[in-house]
Amino acid sequence: MKKTIVWADGCFDMFHYGHANALRQSRQLGNKLIAGIHSNKSILENKGLPVMEDDERIEMVSSCRYVDEVVIDAPFVTQVDLIRKYNVDIVAHGDDLIFSNNGEDAYHQVKNNNMFREVKRTHGISTTEIVGRILLKQSLENAFKQKITNECHTEYQNDLIKTFKQDLDNNKKNKEIVFTDGNYDLLHAGHANALKSAKSMGNYLIVGVHEDSVVKQYNKNRSILDINERILGLLACKYVDEVVISPYLISNDFINSLGATKIVPSYDVRDNYRYNNVKDLISYDFKSNNFSYLSSEYITGKILTNYQQFLCRQKKRLEIK
Ligand code: CTP
Repeated sequence: MKKTIVWADGCFDMFHYGHANALRQSRQLGNKLIAGIHSNKSILENKGLPVMEDDERIEMVSSCRYVDEVVIDAPFVTQVDLIRKYNVDIVAHGDDLIFSNNGEDAYHQVKNNNMFREVKRTHGISTTEIVGRILLKQSLENAFKQKITNECHTEYQNDLIKTFKQDLDNNKKNKEIVFTDGNYDLLHAGHANALKSAKSMGNYLIVGVHEDSVVKQYNKNRSILDINERILGLLACKYVDEVVISPYLISNDFINSLGATKIVPSYDVRDNYRYNNVKDLISYDFKSNNFSYLSSEYITGKILTNYQQFLCRQKKRLEIK
């Protein structure tokens, strides 16, 4: 029987669980999901300055467990001729209208060919929301306080966590279990690459993530994304088999309770004393990480360096939504 091939395109800038949830729902519409990724050039022309570079966005979309294939440089206005080459049957997008810079509905071609399907947008998260939180955190633009609501979405997020978890296979039998941990704020290509390497040290990866209060204690800065949002990002990553809340100091009892036999410290870890009680289990991974320059501070710094351009982008985006 012919497979139903689904196409979902987008910017996927600062990849977040809203993007992952759209890809999850898109994948459910068929048997194979192709993610089309717009180039930074076309995002700049049609939407405004993107935060992340092309290769950084491509790495994140490729790491999403719901994506079977990626196509880079996907045109902003989805072209039926192009997607037919990939034998696409259905095109999915969140339930918001997207217009190109000349006012064209980005999906008019696929709508005319009856190939368009809507998926539900995820509340409380967007690239605009994250950039807004970063600008607010720096107290640079109080005007966003009215728009960026900081609404509490805990119940909704908990339901999403349950849904995302259903797509993980928690069978640990005869598996070599690896443990790694961290904060995983603004999940980026550096994290994805590190998770890929950690997974390759065994065949079942448990990721420990720190509660917001713990992050605040050891890190001068609060994280931009809260614990549920950070968990959701990790659950959508294809290298991750399980996510647990992790204590800051790692004990033997904790690692034994997980059944892990190897611990891979995060690639940018500055506080290795946390593993003093489990030194024997540490496996360093010497694979190079092309995105090791990325960090939450780096991304925040980039937004602040291009402050005026992001301010403009924010205003434009918030007017549209
Ligand atoms: N999406 C979603 N829920 C969100 C954010 C995005 O379902 N909270 C969906 C979009 O509707 C689209 C896909 O994710 O189908 C990719 O979105 P993208 O092109 O990156 O742009 P935006 O919709 O503007 O996403 P964001 O607001 O995060 O920039």
